[in-house]
Amino acid sequence: MHSFQEVGFAQMEVNPFKMIGQDWMLVTAGNEEKANTMTASWGGVGVIWGRNVAYIFIRDSRFTKEFIDREGKFSLSFPEEKFRKEMKFLGAVSGRNEDKIKEAGVHVGYHKGVPYIDEGSMILICRVMSKTPITRDQFIDSSLDGIWYTDQDYHTMYIAEITDILAR
Ligand SMILES: Cc1cc2nc3c(=O)[nH]c(=O)nc-3n(C[C@H](O)[C@H](O)[C@H](O)COP(=O)(O)O)c2cc1C
Repeated sequence: MHSFQEVGFAQMEVNPFKMIGQDWMLVTAGNEEKANTMTASWGGVGVIWGRNVAYIFIRDSRFTKEFIDREGKFSLSFPEEKFRKEMKFLGAVSGRNEDKIKEAGVHVGYHKGVPYIDEGSMILICRVMSKTPITRDQFIDSSLDGIWYTDQDYHTMYIAEITDILAR
């Protein structure tokens, strides 16, 4: 396991378009008994309600969603490019069907009880502040529903306070 140190927001110099959209992240939630993780490339970081936040979009079908909803906390781990194969795997297989964390060969660490993937070079620990299901009637651009939700597997948007930033 790697050792991480807590860093402040002033030390976080990131490009969210690259860090999330291109390089992807692992959303991890659960407890010391069982945790699950999944790859995500939709989301962002920003400021709302006087807090520094991360927001993520999780479809109803994801096993990880059950852990986020139960615990009210999750982490975002940002592995380096060399873990691309593992991230593809973790984004293609559901933990509902197999022990994919073990099969991927990645490791779970805990920070204040919140699980994260140790292979990340930076970890954001997050506390859910709001949870908003995306519904058809919200779209101003009506083409989106037909493009992304033909199977009715809608996303829920989670806005979460970033409580801790861990870096190697
Ligand atoms: C590059 C990539 C990005 C993804 N982004 C998201 C995302 O932002 N939201 C989401 O719900 N699923 C996303 N997925 C799909 C989930 O990672 C995938 O369905 C995963 O198997 C869910 O695992 P789980 O059922 O164990 O939670 C993405 C997959 C890949 C490969």
